[in-house]
Amino acid sequence: MSFHLIGVDESMDTTILSIKDIKKNIKKKSIIKGISFEIKAGEVLGFLGPNGAGKSTSLRMIVGLTRPSSGEISICGHSIRHNNIQAMKNVGCIIENPDLYDYLSGLKNLQMLAAMTPNITQNDIMQAISLVGMENRIKDKVSTYSMGMKQRLGIAQALMHHPKLLVLDEPMNGLDPEGIYKLRTLIQRLAKEENVAALISSHLISEVQLLCDRVVIINNGLLIQNLYIQDLIFSNEITWVLDDLEKAQVFLKANFAISTQIIDGNLRAAINSKDLPLINRALILEGFQLKYVQTQQKSLESLFLDLTENQKIT
Ligand SMILES: Nc1ncnc2c1ncn2[C@@H]1O[C@H](COP(=O)(O)OP(=O)(O)O)[C@@H](O)[C@H]1O
Ligand SMILES: [Mg+2]
Repeated sequence: MSFHLIGVDESMDTTILSIKDIKKNIKKKSIIKGISFEIKAGEVLGFLGPNGAGKSTSLRMIVGLTRPSSGEISICGHSIRHNNIQAMKNVGCIIENPDLYDYLSGLKNLQMLAAMTPNITQNDIMQAISLVGMENRIKDKVSTYSMGMKQRLGIAQALMHHPKLLVLDEPMNGLDPEGIYKLRTLIQRLAKEENVAALISSHLISEVQLLCDRVVIINNGLLIQNLYIQDLIFSNEITWVLDDLEKAQVFLKANFAISTQIIDGNLRAAINSKDLPLINRALILEGFQLKYVQTQQKSLESLFLDLTENQKIT
């Protein structure tokens, strides 16, 4: 069974969500201080930041639960300010806990929501159940579900109207490892197979690293980084063990624009490791005695600490 979320004229390059310089003041306090980014169809974007960074406030603005003080948010080209109904048609979300009635079955919960939403058919409900893999338990009462199953039922609710943007606020919180694995696979499958754009907030670097294609890092209401996960993984700390360090520094600067430091009698720099074979060959051809090269992967964790060091929450 497959979901037909995309029209023939839509490619992977379609911008689904566009945020331009959004700000939010609450009680004269500046909570969000100007954030801009985009998400394309089929992309899983991690919205990463420590507690209090402003993730929930930003997501609440994106799904229309609260208004930005200034700035523009568009979903599938529709401004949420000027064309709210069209924009919101394309959004499925879980911001707080999914709203579920414990004493009813999962199916009954979906049917009740469907009855309140225009144009949702029985077929849409069955497709959503199949997408989240809950066929076997859907007739059981929600009170018998695990946290992970409740979360997946919440996602089924969010998917019934075929949204192009799925927004989940810290969906992995409270899940056991199996629940986390299943939810991660589900989100990735929705993105890759159904071309859904997913915006997933988290305070866990490891989770974002496993789940997402790209990460937007925020702290203290400000965007501090927006980059592809693979660029991060390739950003390595390289140590060259060679002779004539000063000369090698000049050579690397002049030929590769690499700034190196001399640490413990070796040369060190943070570069993309895919350039390394070329650099090493050049060093040898230039006549340097290159004994060996050490590569250390820079983790998202250490990057995050670097980035937020001077922006501690006040
Ligand atoms: N309704 C509110 N009134 C006052 N302060 C708020 C309100 N909502 C959020 N904040 C403050 O805004 C900041 C960001 O909160 P939030 O968006 O919930 O962060 P996160 O989801 O990243 O943990 C916090 O300092 C929080 O105390
Ligand atoms: Mg939050």
